[in-house]
Amino acid sequence: MAVFETNSKAETVALGRRLAQTLHPGDLILFTGGLGAGKTAFCEGIAAGLGCTDDVQSPTFAIVNYYRGPQPMAHFDLYRISTLADLETAGFFDYLDEGAVVAAEWSENAASLLAEQRAIRIDIVSTGDTSRRITIEGAQL
Ligand SMILES: Nc1ncnc2c1ncn2[C@@H]1O[C@H](COP(=O)(O)OP(=O)(O)OP(=O)(O)O)[C@@H](O)[C@H]1O
Ligand SMILES: [Mg+2]
Repeated sequence: MAVFETNSKAETVALGRRLAQTLHPGDLILFTGGLGAGKTAFCEGIAAGLGCTDDVQSPTFAIVNYYRGPQPMAHFDLYRISTLADLETAGFFDYLDEGAVVAAEWSENAASLLAEQRAIRIDIVSTGDTSRRITIEGAQL
């Protein structure tokens, strides 16, 4: 487990880029952390680090955004996902099987469904207006 402090959105994006260098096809990254913690910012960095060229946007309404590139990424928002059927319908396991990197915000909302899943787990806590404590489990940075 590693703990990082960032003091701007740009620093969180940079940490995401750094994590991307350690990722492999079919890797899963599960985010926890409240509203506005910086999960989407971190995902922006991952996508950039993977070489994805599509715009990173919060998948709140779409549930999943897919970013094309040399290492594609599927970006989920699990806010309204609560059953295995919901996850399957959204293609969650299909993206993993086909070798996308899958990053999921609001994984606490599907915690029991994902408890046994091999994953990198990232928790972001807001410690001030522009400061965040970012705890990463399951990756070597
Ligand atoms: N150190 C920081 N790291 C990341 N974002 C920061 C930081 N400091 C300030 N911010 C601001 O916090 C907000 C984070 O928004 P972001 O959409 O990434 O959060 P989120 O966790 O995805 O939120 P949501 O729960 O709505 O999905 C942005 O407005 C960003 O500019
Ligand atoms: Mg978000």
